[in-house]
Amino acid sequence: MTIDGPFDRRDVLRIMLAGAAVVSVPLTGLVAPASSQGPLKIGIIGAGRIGGTMGEHWVKAGHEVMLSSRHPENLKELAARLGPRARVGMPRSAAAFGEVIFIAVPYSAMPEIGRDYANELRGKVVVNASNPIPRRDGPVAEEAQKKGAGLADAELLPGTRVARAFTSPGAGVFRSEAHRAGERIAVAVAADDREAMEVASRLVRDAGFEPVHVGPLARAKDFQPGTAIFGKAMTAREMKQALGLP
Ligand SMILES: NC(=O)c1ccc[n+]([C@@H]2O[C@H](COP(=O)([O-])OP(=O)(O)OC[C@H]3O[C@@H](n4cnc5c(N)ncnc54)[C@H](OP(=O)(O)O)[C@@H]3O)[C@@H](O)[C@H]2O)c1
Repeated sequence: MTIDGPFDRRDVLRIMLAGAAVVSVPLTGLVAPASSQGPLKIGIIGAGRIGGTMGEHWVKAGHEVMLSSRHPENLKELAARLGPRARVGMPRSAAAFGEVIFIAVPYSAMPEIGRDYANELRGKVVVNASNPIPRRDGPVAEEAQKKGAGLADAELLPGTRVARAFTSPGAGVFRSEAHRAGERIAVAVAADDREAMEVASRLVRDAGFEPVHVGPLARAKDFQPGTAIFGKAMTAREMKQALGLP
């Protein structure tokens, strides 16, 4: 079968299923896993300092990104600079576009994102860099800090496969130290889902950093705001030592 146009794997599957008169079969589980090695479609919710910086790294690594904002016109210049693998849209469009979603928003926006885009996010790997900072983000962040940011993410993003990563050190380091020579700067990763851990780790490497697997989402508490390693630029060896990891 020859198919013209910019179809992705999901489109081809939909067409084949439509041909077999089975148009409403949910496709989750039929698509290639997001951890496979080809370029990924990454929907970025919150394309500010962190989202914009990481989007730029991932475009350079060969991925396709949709940068989103509630005012997408403000991102057109950035997307134009990044070239044809970058596009802009509203947050809902980015949630629908991505086979993997990256979130970098004030933590106070997390309940709204989990609720409003639940359909678009369902079943997807979601990498969350948003930090709960009570003085900035209010009660939702206070609760997340108590519970642990990873467990809070899982509750706020039901039906998704969450990884926490890129929460630290900071946008300046993420911009200047990517792919640096010698030992790379480490990025802590926590996830319960194996594929979420793999995908987040791949995105860390593709951005030019070294993933450190801290453990399941409950262990994200070990690197959330207020911990000894939060905000510090360190190598993987230093981070593992600080966290007592092998
Ligand atoms: N900056 C850092 O050094 C750093 C490092 C690691 C992690 N983080 C964490 O990453 C998150 C973002 O930080 P940032 O410095 O990148 O902030 P930022 O530059 O202010 O960008 C925040 C982004 O969030 C979006 N946003 C806000 N409310 C939203 C909502 N209700 N729905 C959808 N999008 C919304 C904004 O988009 P609009 O255009 O729609 O307003 C904006 O693009 C924070 O939680 C921060 O703690 C930051």
